[in-house]
Amino acid sequence: MLFDQPFYLSINEARWIVAQTILNEIKLQIDLSSCLDVGCGPGWFSQKLIDLGLSVTGIDGRLELVELARKRVEKAQFYCGDLESKNQISSFSAADLVFCFGLLYHTENPFRAIRNLYALTKKVLLIESIIIPGDNPIAWLVKEGQNETQGLTHYALIPSRTCTIQMLRVAGFKYVYEYNGEVNHEDFKATDTKHQRRRIFLASLVQLGVNNLVEVPEISTPKYNFSNKSTIS
Ligand SMILES: C[S@@+](CC[C@H](N)C(=O)[O-])C[C@H]1O[C@@H](n2cnc3c(N)ncnc32)[C@H](O)[C@@H]1O
Repeated sequence: MLFDQPFYLSINEARWIVAQTILNEIKLQIDLSSCLDVGCGPGWFSQKLIDLGLSVTGIDGRLELVELARKRVEKAQFYCGDLESKNQISSFSAADLVFCFGLLYHTENPFRAIRNLYALTKKVLLIESIIIPGDNPIAWLVKEGQNETQGLTHYALIPSRTCTIQMLRVAGFKYVYEYNGEVNHEDFKATDTKHQRRRIFLASLVQLGVNNLVEVPEISTPKYNFSNKSTIS
């Protein structure tokens, strides 16, 4: 399956090196014991989170992946749930840490997804996503591929960086931090010909000081300016 292909595992390894460092630093500041791995797929990150000493529950919208994760990661609990459903998500207990890598950009309702992530978070949310380039707080509609790594409806609305940050804040996270350190994968690097594709954010209910995580200021979300006249005279 796609989740087991070398290209998939290499980005997992690169993301985990950073996630592990961040989580170890957070654990020195606050107690983290329970963890929800949302959009867990077959449980690759769930196993890593267990190895970090966390009590892990994985949630995924695909039952076949939940069943596979149960076989692969015996020490975690796995349940089927749609992050875009307020009703389904309300049946889960909140956890100290919510880990949500590789999911937001597969949702057709990213703001609902973020509000649901907030409802699941007791202390911190570590979230990684693809983001649409540009400074405006916008989202881009895409028709996705038809495989098991994608969204449940195969249509996704992918937010920009500022859109993601402000949705996290509006959902209720008092502190939003952006990771500005190195991730050893091309998706996290900007080049002369390519924008940075992915970013990592930490959204928290408590103030934290973590290396390479920079608190991001309030983003302005004014009404759209429909003027078609240039402001330059
Ligand atoms: C790209 S994979 C990410 C898997 C893993 N977290 C990682 O980063 O490698 C996206 C996962 O999210 C699941 N998923 C997609 N839409 C979802 C939704 N609305 N609610 C819950 N899970 C969803 C998919 O079934 C898939 O397992």
